Amino acid sequence: MTHTVFYTATTLDGFIATPDHSLEWLLSRKSDADGPMGYNTFLPTIGAIAMGASTYQWLLDNSPAGEPWPYTVPTWIFTHRTFPARTDAVDVRFTHDPIPEVHERMSEAAGDKHIWIVGGGDLAGQFADHTLLDEIIVSIAPVTLGSGQPLLPRLLELKTTEVAHNGEFAAIRYEVLHP
Ligand SMILES: NC(=O)c1ccc[n+]([C@@H]2O[C@H](COP(=O)([O-])OP(=O)(O)OC[C@H]3O[C@@H](n4cnc5c(N)ncnc54)[C@H](OP(=O)(O)O)[C@@H]3O)[C@@H](O)[C@H]2O)c1
Repeated sequence: MTHTVFYTATTLDGFIATPDHSLEWLLSRKSDADGPMGYNTFLPTIGAIAMGASTYQWLLDNSPAGEPWPYTVPTWIFTHRTFPARTDAVDVRFTHDPIPEVHERMSEAAGDKHIWIVGGGDLAGQFADHTLLDEIIVSIAPVTLGSGQPLLPRLLELKTTEVAHNGEFAAIRYEVLHP
């Protein structure tokens, strides 16, 4: 089974974006992409990506004009919305097929690499519902928001496998324990 990881940043109180999908609380902070559990080490391990419609919309809204799509691996966008067709040559696929079916396609695409669930939290939870989420890597920012888009609105038992300090963040790796 292809290793599937939810890799994300969160506030201390468990939100990955504000109620209106702002990431200002995150983007202003210092981290070391080459440091423990950093992005530069993580990304080369990934062979396929999944994200929800709001995350995709955030990328559309916040990518500076002319900046290319940030990923080179096949990416599945879970949505019921109709997004404009892409005019670049990137591999972005829109789907609302059942999670296990899409996971199987993602596994084929990923080969011997891993699957990254970018977010949101409920989408990661849907993979967990099907015991298709193996690992969670969170970078906890030193901030609380009080409300927002949830990190992972599920009851899951986890095992802590790595803890580190990266820039302003506490980075923690968890194995998802499936009963
Ligand atoms: N802090 C971080 O590192 C980080 C990481 C990732 C994302 N984010 C941010 O966090 C926020 C996440 O937003 P969100 O909580 O709304 O989650 P999301 O997963 O980005 O978007 C949720 C939407 O995805 C669609 N969707 C989810 N599951 C689906 C399924 N099985 N089939 C078809 N469509 C499905 C639905 O939209 P429709 O049915 O309307 O299409 C749903 O309303 C965004 O602002 C994003 O930018 C932050």
